[in-house]
Amino acid sequence: MSSRRAAVRVGGRVGPPAPAPPAPERVRALLAEGVRTLRAAGLATARQDAEWLLAAELGVGRLDLYTEPPAVGAAAARRYAAALARRAAHEPLQHLLGWEEFRGLRFSVGPAVLIPRPETELLVEWALEFMPRGATVCDLGTGSGCVAAAIAAARPDVRVLAVELSAAARAVAARNLAALGLADRVTVLDGDLFEPLARWAGAVDLIVANPPYIPTGALPALPAEVRAWEPRGALDGGPDGMAVSRRIIAGAPGVLARGGALAVEIGEGQAPPLAATMGTCGFVDVTTRHDLGGVERYLAGALGAASAPGSRAARARRATIRRAEGG
Ligand SMILES: C[S@@+](CC[C@H](N)C(=O)[O-])C[C@H]1O[C@@H](n2cnc3c(N)ncnc32)[C@H](O)[C@@H]1O
Repeated sequence: MSSRRAAVRVGGRVGPPAPAPPAPERVRALLAEGVRTLRAAGLATARQDAEWLLAAELGVGRLDLYTEPPAVGAAAARRYAAALARRAAHEPLQHLLGWEEFRGLRFSVGPAVLIPRPETELLVEWALEFMPRGATVCDLGTGSGCVAAAIAAARPDVRVLAVELSAAARAVAARNLAALGLADRVTVLDGDLFEPLARWAGAVDLIVANPPYIPTGALPALPAEVRAWEPRGALDGGPDGMAVSRRIIAGAPGVLARGGALAVEIGEGQAPPLAATMGTCGFVDVTTRHDLGGVERYLAGALGAASAPGSRAARARRATIRRAEGG
């Protein structure tokens, strides 16, 4: 067996192997090839993407490609070419790498979850301002678990309930929480928004949510990376983009403790109608914040005393729930 393999190896050789080009030249050439391929595919981030993909194949940091370029074997070059082809077909870079960072933590991502976005880091930042010591926090629509994990990591005194409808997303969230050592303080719950929270009614200090908020009609115009690769359930907010947000606002008073708060990420132009819904549902001090692009992107408020069961706010809330559910 071993002599047959040796014979093939010797017989297949047509001469001494060509000397490999020095590592810096080889890395430069592979990067240039990657940039050409990705630019031709219309990707504005061609250079960064090529760097990320080559660095990942070689197991080094992006800067090392320039400061300490490693030798590139034939197998790594082939894997890099395959990754470039997938990226040129607009598969998200994060899917090819398998991870994204959020508030300094690394999350595994794939087609089952929304890739954590930088703007959601500001939602977490704001939410942290609402958290009393030892709070019970609920993250509605946890996806990769990034919001729940970032809160738990920042505040070792709080406990987080992370609700998610998609079983595939729940599996990703559970893996991420375990990898980050946060599974003992973040509980992943299966269900539709408030459905799995019955036993926490009146005991939640803060609800934070980044719900799907893109109007259904706007989905076809999304970039291919998003439209074709991210889960529709993480994007589609119904005809006007606010269906899930309205249900969250209307249902929140049922689980929040008195004085508890709700902080939600919202779509462009959604602040006025959703702020009005919050007012109707018994929230006070309703305010918005902008993202770094200047869009009114976050909405928050505290549950006022007048929102007790039987109050006008509670009746308005029930009417909003009926409307949101199409009843
Ligand atoms: C926009 S993604 C946000 C994911 C993650 N929190 C983040 O910020 O990256 C919305 C998430 O809510 C989940 N979701 C949508 N409708 C839901 C519902 N009715 N109940 C629970 N989760 C829901 C989706 O599956 C998706 O994971």
